[in-house]
Parts: sequence; structure tokens; C-alpha cells
Amino acid sequence: MDYANIIFAVEERVATLTINRPDRLNALNPQTMEEIGDCIGAIHGNREIRCVIITGSGDKAFIAGADITAMVTMSGFEEKAFAATGLDVLRRFEQLPIPVIAAVNGYALGGGTELALACDLIVASDNARFGLPEIKLGIIPGFGGTQRLPRRIGLLRAREMIYTGDMIDAQTAFDYGLVNHVYPAAELMDECRVLAAKLARQAPLAMQQAKTAINAGIEIDLDNALRFETESVGLVFTTEDKKEGMTAFLEKREPRFRGV
Ligand code: COA
Repeated sequence: MDYANIIFAVEERVATLTINRPDRLNALNPQTMEEIGDCIGAIHGNREIRCVIITGSGDKAFIAGADITAMVTMSGFEEKAFAATGLDVLRRFEQLPIPVIAAVNGYALGGGTELALACDLIVASDNARFGLPEIKLGIIPGFGGTQRLPRRIGLLRAREMIYTGDMIDAQTAFDYGLVNHVYPAAELMDECRVLAAKLARQAPLAMQQAKTAINAGIEIDLDNALRFETESVGLVFTTEDKKEGMTAFLEKREPRFRGV
């Protein structure tokens, strides 16, 4: 598939997906969502890719939300289909077997904050702004924001953000536990690449199991979650990479993980 609204590049096992509609502040229209969905399929099918960075084009926005120009004429049924696509795309991000880093380089509003919430880690520039402003448009978040935000930052803070539609700055997002790190804008991508390279060097099957255990466990009761972890540990102990990791430690050398 040729992409009109995203740029996709893979370098040294790290894929970078850039939403590329800077004149619309990278707003998500149906075609962009379709392209992101296709791209996730390509990432899933490529065992060489060990980490994904998602970011926005330009220096102003990560993603300024769903495309209001496209939504203004949508009927309820069309919006339902658009929201279903958005939910599906974000869920597929969440369920990729490799870590995804959101490099939030400016406004992350509506679908922008929602997409970031579906990523494993969120790293922000100091000029980043997060928010779910849908209420100001007479609607509510439709890509999972009412569900993922309270789970991430707690009910009170999420309610205030969703009810007021107001934005929070990068430092507040950090204080809320919404972002992992905040860097000066000029350093954001370099810092994200360093982090991505570190994740890409880890044992891929262990990484996959760690991600699965965290995501599955957070939704269920602790006893079942701990049982899930025990099963996962058992699984990773069967891998060649487990032997390699422990042998490398005892031989005082760097491990060479192969994903088997
Ligand atoms: N959908 C469609 N177009 C959008 C958009 C969106 N979500 N967000 C920004 N744009 C467009 C603007 O309409 C403008 O287009 P124009 O140049 O044809 O007028 C262009 O992107 C630049 O945005 P502008 O509003 O001029 O920039 P700004 O710096 O003054 O304000 C924002 C930036 C992000 C605060 C403002 O654009 C905004 O509030 N966007 C909407 C955010 C939103 O409600 N998202 C949730 C949607 S459900």
C-alpha cells in the first residue's frame, strides 16, 4: 500500500511511523487511520522489527485529534464506523508483540492523546500538550479515551480533563504519570531513538511475554494475574535466549539474543 498521510521507515530494527499531515496538525482522517492500520499489519509481519516509535510531522503537533473537517458531515452511523476503526487500530497497537513508544512532539489532543495511551511508553517534548477536548465540540472521546485515561491517571484527574476539555502541559502530564520522560523539543527524537535501541536489544520473546503479562494482568484480579505471570515465566525459560542471557552473564559478555 502506498501511503499518502504517513511516513514509515525501518532502521536498525526500529520502525518509525510518522503521521504526515502537518498543515492539519496531523489530524486523523479515515484514510490516515486506514494507512496506520495497514502499517501495523506490516510491522506485525516483520520479525526484524523490535520496537516502534510513533510521532507527528512538523514541530507543532503529534496529532491534534480526529479530523473535524471529515467528522462534521459524518452521520451517527458513519462516526460509529470511524470510531470502530479507531478503536481497532489502537487495540492493535496495544497488542503488537513489541514495544511502541509515542514521541509526543506537540499537541496530542483527542485521538492524539488516545493513541499515545495505547502505546507502551510516552515520551514528550517540553512543548507537548495533552487533552481530550471533545466535550467542547459537543461529543465525547471515541477512541478509548474515557476508558484508558482513568485507568492511567486515576478517576479524578481524568474526569477533570474529560469534563473541561482543557489541555495539560508536558510537566503536568509527567506529574500525573501520563508520560515517562520530558525532553527539550530538539532532543526528543534522539532520546526516543536511544530508548528504542535499548528495547530493541532485549530478548524479543521475553519482551513479548513481559508486555502480554502486564497488559493482561492489569485487567484482572491479582491471583489470576500472578498465575498468568508464572505461566509466562515458564514459557520464557524454554527459549534459547534464556540460555544465551544467563550464559552471557556468567561469561561476562554481552548477550546475543536471536528471538528463539
Ligand atoms: N481536525 C481538522 N483540522 C484541524 C484539527 C483537527 N482536529 N486541528 C487543527 N486543524 C487545522 C486547523 O483547522 C487549521 O487549519 P487552517 O489552516 O485551514 O485554518 C490548521 O490545522 C492549523 O491549526 P490552527 O487551529 O490554526 O492552529 P493553532 O495553533 O491556532 O491551534 C490547536 C492549535 C491544536 C489548539 C487547534 O488547532 C485545535 O484546537 N484543534 C482541534 C483540537 C480538537 O478539538 N481535537 C479533537 C477532535 S475530536
